Amino acid sequence: MGETPLRIMGLSGSYGKSSKNGMLVDLALKKASELGADVMFWDLTEQPLPLVGAEGCWSDPITKKFQEEASNCDGFLVSSPEYHGTMSGVMKNTFDWVYEKHVGGKVFGLMATLGGMENSNTLNHMRIMVRWLHGIAVTQQLAIGHVKEAFDEDGNLVNEDSNQRLQTLVESVLDTARIYRNSQ
Ligand SMILES: Cc1cc2nc3c(=O)[nH]c(=O)nc-3n(C[C@H](O)[C@H](O)[C@H](O)COP(=O)(O)O)c2cc1C
Repeated sequence: MGETPLRIMGLSGSYGKSSKNGMLVDLALKKASELGADVMFWDLTEQPLPLVGAEGCWSDPITKKFQEEASNCDGFLVSSPEYHGTMSGVMKNTFDWVYEKHVGGKVFGLMATLGGMENSNTLNHMRIMVRWLHGIAVTQQLAIGHVKEAFDEDGNLVNEDSNQRLQTLVESVLDTARIYRNSQ
């Protein structure tokens, strides 16, 4: 009997699939799907998460749904824009809706996009945040600088080296998620 496919959720620190981060997450999920994973993209334009602490947020049904979906996943492919040297508020707020009981022991692949030259600030900050949730961020990571020019009209990365790094990142998330799932 075949193995149950890994379930992987895509999270973007920008709204929608047409943002650069939406495109990068979409591409990563496409690669995960080609490798046999069940994938889903949590699209904040369709299912916006309220700001943590905003009036009525604790009983918002979308947050419960998000937590349930996260609990049912084996791994996450996550990309944030760099804003003022760190992840976007949207990305942080998304993570503020999950706790160890939802994502502890699950595997994360981290990506970031920048308007300027690439660096690892946002990736490092996200890595600390994931550790706080007892998630496992794989060692591979991807930062895309000068992101306005990074994609072609079909939504693929123009730079083949970046594309190969993305492929390796996705493979690592799936391989690691399989190990963790089989150890439970
Ligand atoms: C408030 C704000 C702050 C930003 N700060 C930085 C920054 O510190 N470094 C940088 O390279 N780009 C910065 N940018 C550019 C974004 O990183 C870039 O627009 C984003 O990665 C594009 O992705 P998106 O289409 O998903 O929004 C900033 C953009 C905004 C709106």
